[in-house]
Amino acid sequence: MYLKTSAKPAPDALQSTYSAELLASFAPRLVAWQREHGRHDLPWQNTRDPYRIWLSEIMLQQTQVSTVIPYYARFLDRFPTVEALAAAPADDVMALWAGLGYYTRARNLHRCAQVVAESHGGQFPSTVEGLAELPGIGRSTAAAIASFAFGARATILDGNVKRVLARVFGVEGFPGEKRVENAMWTLAESLVPGADATDADVSAYTQGLMDLGATLCTRGKPDCERCPFASDCVAKTTNRQRQLPASRPKKAVPTRQTWMLILLDGDAVMLEKRPPSGIWGGLWSLPEAADEAALAARADGYGAQGAKASALASLQHTFTHFKLDIEPRVVELDARKGGALVAQDGETAWVALREIDAYGVPAPVRKLLDGLRGSLI
Ligand code: ADE
Repeated sequence: MYLKTSAKPAPDALQSTYSAELLASFAPRLVAWQREHGRHDLPWQNTRDPYRIWLSEIMLQQTQVSTVIPYYARFLDRFPTVEALAAAPADDVMALWAGLGYYTRARNLHRCAQVVAESHGGQFPSTVEGLAELPGIGRSTAAAIASFAFGARATILDGNVKRVLARVFGVEGFPGEKRVENAMWTLAESLVPGADATDADVSAYTQGLMDLGATLCTRGKPDCERCPFASDCVAKTTNRQRQLPASRPKKAVPTRQTWMLILLDGDAVMLEKRPPSGIWGGLWSLPEAADEAALAARADGYGAQGAKASALASLQHTFTHFKLDIEPRVVELDARKGGALVAQDGETAWVALREIDAYGVPAPVRKLLDGLRGSLI
């Protein structure tokens, strides 16, 4: 039943990793499903004109089908051939693209049209390699154009296809990682219909990969009940649709440590203005040091010689790229030495704890001082 579009025999390495039966039956099952349940009436289907196919694939690179449709129609209306697009002023192309986003695509589109018109006699190359040399055409887009326009046995591998393959075959690892992506290219290439497939089979296969990813095997809510691979799909049979494909690994966030001085003069605390750039740039915060001894030296500099420091509970604050462990130390000034020792130079200020809210103070520092105020009252 599946013989007509059987895939090439898979390399040994794949055979030992994935089910041989699934490898062999994947393409014919997908083609059969696409013919019955896939999309057939999108404006760029039912043509083998490489210009139209190329234009649609570029527009569809980061944009949904429903958004692309009116743009595609307007572009073809205005630029019916690659020569017409090549000859257009760049401003006209950009104006017609406006709203589709990712404007590098539009600049590459125009350059690509010019290269095809000027260096290829107006004919798009018919191989994946030839297409992939043109501006704005990567490996997957080249394969889509080559398979739709020229029946090439080449595989696409965009985000949707990675999701389908990760789930159906149980490919572990984050697909954005080179090692995993390479493994997926190898798998995807082994699945393409073999030499016995017709051009129409190849086209249905490529479209089937897109359709399955876009309509059933979606990221959030896959419709496994209607999927032709439900009985074999690794994700479905092990109930790991949410875990496959694996998400981007979270980067380990480094932790830094800082000691903060809460220098008290009665009910006033000494704040320092932070430098204008860097974390908490321009906010009022507590004096800091890299270790306990350096903090004691700073306290001494503010006239606290001999005063005993007491530790408050440490706290952690999370920034985007690191965590900050804060070790607070309280030093109470001898009232006779007091605030007079500190220059009122706009860089330091004695602030009554109840007036902290009037200053721009970083959230964890405010939390610390609010807690202290509560315990002093
Ligand atoms: N996404 C990328 N190429 C597509 C195509 N030809 N049809 C539908 N969606 C697509």
